[in-house]
Amino acid sequence: MDFKSVALGAGGLAGLSADALLVVVAGTAMPEGMEAPLANVLRDAVKNGDLELKAGRALYVHRPAGLKAQRLVLAVAADDSAKAFKAAALAGIASVKGLGVSHLAVAQVGASRLTEAHAEALAMAVSDSVYVYRHTKPSAPSAPRLSKVTLACAKADATAVTVGLRRGAAVASGVEVARECANRPANHATPTFLADQAKQMAKLHGFKLQVLDEAAVKKLGMGSFLAVAQGSDEPLKFIVLQYLGAARTEAPVVLVGKGITFDTGGISIKPAPEMDEMKFDMSGAASVLGTFKALGELKPRVNVVGLIPACENMPSGKAVKPGDVVRSMSGQTIEVLNTDAEGRLILCDALTYAERFKPAAVIDIATLTGACVIALGHHHSGLFSSDDELAEELLQAAKRGLDPAWRMPLDEEYADALKSNFADMGNVGGRAGGSITAAMFLKKFTARYRWAHLDIAGTAWKSGAAKGATGRPVPLLTHYLLSQAR
Ligand code: BES
Ligand code: MN
Ligand code: ZN
Repeated sequence: MDFKSVALGAGGLAGLSADALLVVVAGTAMPEGMEAPLANVLRDAVKNGDLELKAGRALYVHRPAGLKAQRLVLAVAADDSAKAFKAAALAGIASVKGLGVSHLAVAQVGASRLTEAHAEALAMAVSDSVYVYRHTKPSAPSAPRLSKVTLACAKADATAVTVGLRRGAAVASGVEVARECANRPANHATPTFLADQAKQMAKLHGFKLQVLDEAAVKKLGMGSFLAVAQGSDEPLKFIVLQYLGAARTEAPVVLVGKGITFDTGGISIKPAPEMDEMKFDMSGAASVLGTFKALGELKPRVNVVGLIPACENMPSGKAVKPGDVVRSMSGQTIEVLNTDAEGRLILCDALTYAERFKPAAVIDIATLTGACVIALGHHHSGLFSSDDELAEELLQAAKRGLDPAWRMPLDEEYADALKSNFADMGNVGGRAGGSITAAMFLKKFTARYRWAHLDIAGTAWKSGAAKGATGRPVPLLTHYLLSQAR
């Protein structure tokens, strides 16, 4: 996709040539000072009841009088924020779906300035609209044929808009990588596939890459990760990606992504309904790959390590059983009370492995608990950290990326639920506060660095008719890393 800014000349919006012009009306009052042809169309549409000035509404106008563009879409935004601009852009683009629009021009009326954030939001909205999953469904109907998007702005905003479009395009391509990986079914998206994706990206963008196999993981003493993988015939992989954007001496940020390519629950097997959705249980891993894609395109001055423990969670004659005690790489022993709480079992060894990078911060990303979905629904990802500064930085990044997160508690009292008579800890607490006790489990492996945990169980994919990966939290993670660049 080609994103460009265009500074508005004397001809104004009426003079813009494109296959379609999308005009975002910021605010729900009739904008003042609009140029004549456009003002006439808008006033007329509102007067005749064809367009209500209400957030989310959009109207397609064919061959609008007095405009060079042959198609016009009016889309109403709640206010002049980037978030509202994105929502309106999504609604507007939806109304040219299936039409012969390959060049879309976009503009805003009713608000004076377009910022970096607006431009970025537009790039995100466009690429979100044109993504179609095809890998195992080549017959999928095509999305809008968009190949070029120009954002019209005042001369004074052109630099900000150009910067925002570039960042948005990069974040969007990261989101697309994450969606594509997570959408592929588990017989395609195996641990080996994830390693191959990492290999391709490393080659393209010059990342350092190591892929550890079972023997190497055994040698490291990752008894907890191995216990999860042992029930599956699909070979495990431990992926170590490194992006060096700053001096070697700069401590890196380490991202750890849960890479369960299918979660049956193991011997503590899950019920059949919706079990197919457990192919998305590698969405944390996919978000790490997607974030590296964005890093490769933006090349910020920051060092980043990506760690992905990847395997399946399967029941079999070799599978780990409830009550089995395993020894983690940290030396702490774990009683596996429920084999379906496998995410924390693979993450804990990756978190211990992270120590060797002497990290500035470690952030793990995991579709960890159904309890997090109950707590926060599908809007906010759960953010857990004992470090107030890191938590605040991540919340700010979530805001800037329009990728919301909500901070959850991590008081020591919650760790009581993990007590075991047969090991240093059990791998589950009760049902109460399930997402918090899961985070408390991980916390036991993070004493040596600043750490945060993102539970994306409710935000990584959508169910129902729109079933599919969202690519979250790539925007949050990318914005956080950009904020750490010097
Ligand atoms: N991958 C699941 C979490 C999950 C469930 C994400 C549903 C999204 C939707 C995870 O491995 C799991 O099974 N967690 C258990 C933990 C429990 C056994 C303590 C859960 O949430 O039920
Ligand atoms: Mn599970
Ligand atoms: Zn899982």
